[in-house]
Amino acid sequence: MVKFTDIKGFIFDLDGVVTDTSRYHAKAWGQLADKLGVDYPGLGDAVKGISRMDALEMILKKGGLENNYSEAEKEALAAEKNANYVNLIQNMSAKDILPGMADFLAELKDKGYGISLASASKNAPTILEKIGLSDYFTKAVDPATLKYGKPDPEIFIKGAQLLDLMPAQCIGLEDAAAGIAGINAAGETSVGIGDPELLHDATINFTDTSQVSLANIEKAMQ
Ligand code: G6P
Ligand code: MG
Repeated sequence: MVKFTDIKGFIFDLDGVVTDTSRYHAKAWGQLADKLGVDYPGLGDAVKGISRMDALEMILKKGGLENNYSEAEKEALAAEKNANYVNLIQNMSAKDILPGMADFLAELKDKGYGISLASASKNAPTILEKIGLSDYFTKAVDPATLKYGKPDPEIFIKGAQLLDLMPAQCIGLEDAAAGIAGINAAGETSVGIGDPELLHDATINFTDTSQVSLANIEKAMQ
């Protein structure tokens, strides 16, 4: 394993790591799946980290509907989900930052670590603004520039490039199995936050964000 002292930067997923928006994504996709008549147990976990259009394709496939809609109709369905989602995040504020994450970001900044954002969400800038953390994430990968979604490593490789660091100098933090796969494939150290069974491929596991600190990461890397 990479040594803790080699680590110079941290690459963050947003939804489910910095703030608990995963439940809103799950709810908005659930509303759309219901409308389409698709029964999808575990939908909330399945769409974690997955881009908007890829998530829609997953749902259509689950219902055997993948050939039933034109590209324009799919765009409309995705836009409908997003409108539902945007509605749900309307009243977000600093109270929606997950436990310990504001302190962790402050600690990283204080100690001079690089910080970048690797979120697939086109709503990330709005959310960061609402929860008051935009200033930490001046370096953010623009998901519109990506060729591939998670589990592809592209977003995490770009996240390291934004920090002028090699992947091996970076730690990526994720709540999604697809994200952990992307971090590992990028050659970075992965921190999985959430169910360790779901995130069994992570280098380091924490069950929730309150455990995330430099001291705990250093301990886990010894
Ligand atoms: C994150 C979430 C996914 C979501 C994706 C795209 O990765 O974990 O559930 O589908 O972002 O979000 P967007 O806001 O662009 O639809
Ligand atoms: Mg996430």
